[in-house]
Parts: sequence; structure tokens; C-alpha cells
Amino acid sequence: MCAMMLTMEQASIRQLDKLYKIETECFKKEAFTKHQIAHLLTDYNSVSLIAKCNNEIVGFIIGMMYPERNALAGHILTIDVLLSHRRRGIAQKLLGEIEKIFVEKGVKSCRLEVREDNAAALRLYQKLGYRKVAKLDGYYGNAHGIYLKKDLGES
Ligand SMILES: CC(C)(COP(=O)(O)OP(=O)(O)OC[C@H]1O[C@@H](n2cnc3c(N)ncnc32)[C@H](O)[C@@H]1OP(=O)(O)O)[C@@H](O)C(=O)NCCC(=O)NCCS
Repeated sequence: MCAMMLTMEQASIRQLDKLYKIETECFKKEAFTKHQIAHLLTDYNSVSLIAKCNNEIVGFIIGMMYPERNALAGHILTIDVLLSHRRRGIAQKLLGEIEKIFVEKGVKSCRLEVREDNAAALRLYQKLGYRKVAKLDGYYGNAHGIYLKKDLGES
């Protein structure tokens, strides 16, 4: 339980082992490799945050920024919350916080892909204002993906 002790901070490469452990708990076969997470954490264009409950890392999010036409676009690459800490608003806070950072950096829109059978994630994104833009046939090999987007313009 962490109702009162949830904190968020920028992720660091020093936390790689723990983040990889959470990633494999959350995604199993589709998890990023440790090397990929290391790469993402250290990329100049990435924004990554961890959520801590009583000083233990219980979730994280990694996003990227890239130029698109005359603006910057954001892309959420992974969002993970430990099974033991779900349904307490942690993902919602991580996503809200990364969007805030994106906006401060001039990002105008944010997008992401999700498995079409990932009901929890789809509900989360739609609750936070993401709208379905396209179906991605076979995106996950054995499952289709959904491409979602949110305008961060005036938020
Ligand atoms: C998806 C995930 C990140 C959600 O994390 P979480 O901290 O439990 O989510 P939150 O508590 O912030 O939930 C916010 C909203 O999302 C929706 N939601 C979250 N989990 C849900 C579930 N299991 N079933 C239905 N809706 C769900 C609800 O609308 C919820 O609001 P509510 O609790 O007021 O109803 C988490 O389940 C997870 O890590 N899953 C494995 C990794 C994954 O699939 N990541 C997304 C890949 S695109």
C-alpha cells in the first residue's frame, strides 16, 4: 500500500536492473531487452520517470520526443506498474507527469501503440484523453495493435 508515500522522479541508468525486472514482469515475451532499456534511458531525446512507493520502485514510464513537421511529437514506449501496486492510480500519475514534461519541452502531441487485447491499458489511455487513430494489423505478431494519439496543445 502506498496511498501517501508515492513519489515520482527522473529515472537513471543506475536503476536499470530493477526497471528490467519490472519490464519482464509486466510484458513477458514482448518485454524490451535490458540493452534496449539502457539505450532508451540514456537517449538524449527520451524522458523517463519512476514511481516509488515507500522508496521502492513500483513502476516506470519511458517516452521519446522527435521532430515532426514544424513541431515536436512525443511517443510513449513503455509504461509498467508492478502487479502488486496496480489500480491505485500510479500509471495515471506517470502518464500525466510525462505529458507535463513533454509540454514544457514544446511537445504538441503524444502517441503510443497498444495490443488490442490489453483492456487495462486501453481504458487507461482513453480515460486520459487518447483517441484511436488506426488499427495496426499484426503489429505484435500474434495480435493486432491500436495506435492512439492525444493532442497536448492547450493542456
Ligand atoms: C496498464 C497499467 C500500466 C495500468 O497501471 P495502473 O497503475 O494499475 O493503472 P491506474 O491505477 O493508474 O488506472 C487508471 C485507469 O486505467 C484503467 N484501468 C487500469 N487498470 C485496469 C484494469 N485492470 N481493468 C480495467 N481498467 C483498468 C481504469 O480506467 C483506471 O481508472 P479507475 O481505477 O479510476 O477505474 C498496468 O496494468 C500494467 O503495468 N500492465 C502491464 C504493462 C502494460 O500493459 N503496459 C501498457 C502497454 S501499452
